[in-house]
Amino acid sequence: MLKKEQNELLTHTGPGTPMGQLFRRYWLPALLASELPENECPPVRVKLLSERLVAWRDTDGRLALMDEFCAHRGVSLWFGRNEEHGLRCPYHGWKYDHTGQCIEVPSEPTESGFCRKIKLTSYPLVERGGVLWTYMGLPEQQPPLPVWEFATVPADRTFTSKRTQECNWLQALEGGIDSSHVSFLHRGELNTDPLFKGSKGNQYNLNDARPVFEVVESPGGLLIGARRNAENGHYYWRITQWVMPAFTMIPPRGDHPVHGHFWVPIDDENCWAWSFDYKVTRPFSDQELASMRAGKGIHVEYVPGTFRPKQNKDNDYLIDRAAQKRGATFSGVFGIAMQDASLQESMGPIIDRTKENLVSTDNGIIMARHRLLRTVKAMIDKGAAPPGLDAAHQRCRSASVVLPPDQHFKDAAKEALTVQQDMEHVTV
Ligand code: FES
Ligand SMILES: [Fe+2]
Repeated sequence: MLKKEQNELLTHTGPGTPMGQLFRRYWLPALLASELPENECPPVRVKLLSERLVAWRDTDGRLALMDEFCAHRGVSLWFGRNEEHGLRCPYHGWKYDHTGQCIEVPSEPTESGFCRKIKLTSYPLVERGGVLWTYMGLPEQQPPLPVWEFATVPADRTFTSKRTQECNWLQALEGGIDSSHVSFLHRGELNTDPLFKGSKGNQYNLNDARPVFEVVESPGGLLIGARRNAENGHYYWRITQWVMPAFTMIPPRGDHPVHGHFWVPIDDENCWAWSFDYKVTRPFSDQELASMRAGKGIHVEYVPGTFRPKQNKDNDYLIDRAAQKRGATFSGVFGIAMQDASLQESMGPIIDRTKENLVSTDNGIIMARHRLLRTVKAMIDKGAAPPGLDAAHQRCRSASVVLPPDQHFKDAAKEALTVQQDMEHVTV
């Protein structure tokens, strides 16, 4: 449970808000590289942290992310002409380069130098791992480029998709931290989804719906350990990583690709659920790739031409009550991602966290909120740099392991929780 002010602080990320300041310290995924497929391709609207921006790629392939609206009289530059090293507003022809600098105001005499005084807000945009990343903070605080493992393995071993989710980013993040719901909400999919089924760990998941949570702080965020009974008094541990502010990695299952997310605010009532899958030592099989493209695992099918899921709140997520009744899926909604999204959206755009009744399996969520609150306070009061910026914080892994009862996961799985060169995740 949070106080009203705390809930507001954590959920508001627009310019000038404390949480918005925190998000503006990190490189964030902004677009898929495939959205800007070639030089001079059509510009793309991007809304992030409540700022409306336009992304485009110029004649020389330089990537640009800048204020969506023309400095003249506010026309959306999404309508712009992407031509000869610049984006030209179609209303009166003002032209901007990839840094947002105005380079031509056709109605003014060139000698006046008027255009030099006009510059739109613009942010760096850099490709890594098929994703275009941006940094929206102060230039003097710009951190090194992100080194998440999924974005640095060879291209045939990584797949990233994104979907819009119609609720605040924190609701979505909390779903990524709360692994106790897997034994309920996703239990049907554990045996049927091509990217989840068949691992030994699934049986532990299904046989023990009362996991014991042990959550410890990590340098970049939290390690969320969920302990379930295995054979001979041993425990099956699923260890989720949360790295500040919005990265979560799901513990692996057998030899399946490893899944994870970034939960990035579009505005206070919508977010992007970025969803990645990767393997370290082998390319995906054709079947794995086909499953990801078909919206299986943590991916979704779309309304054609959009990143909105085909199952959405306008069609009640295509809920199938008969399937719910016979237990084919626990909630009646099909697909892991939409099971999560449907329930998180059902809470309303921003859940009132003053009214919750939290239990021990919510420890991860409680600790994440407090870490965020503490971090924002230290950043604002003392100018402290937040966790999650260091490469070492990003070179982390989730793990699933069976351990004897006297071993704590954070010691016994220490190596498994960091990137090990040319070795797969530790998994059951
Ligand atoms: S509004 Fe863009 S040039 Fe006039
Ligand atoms: Fe889930």
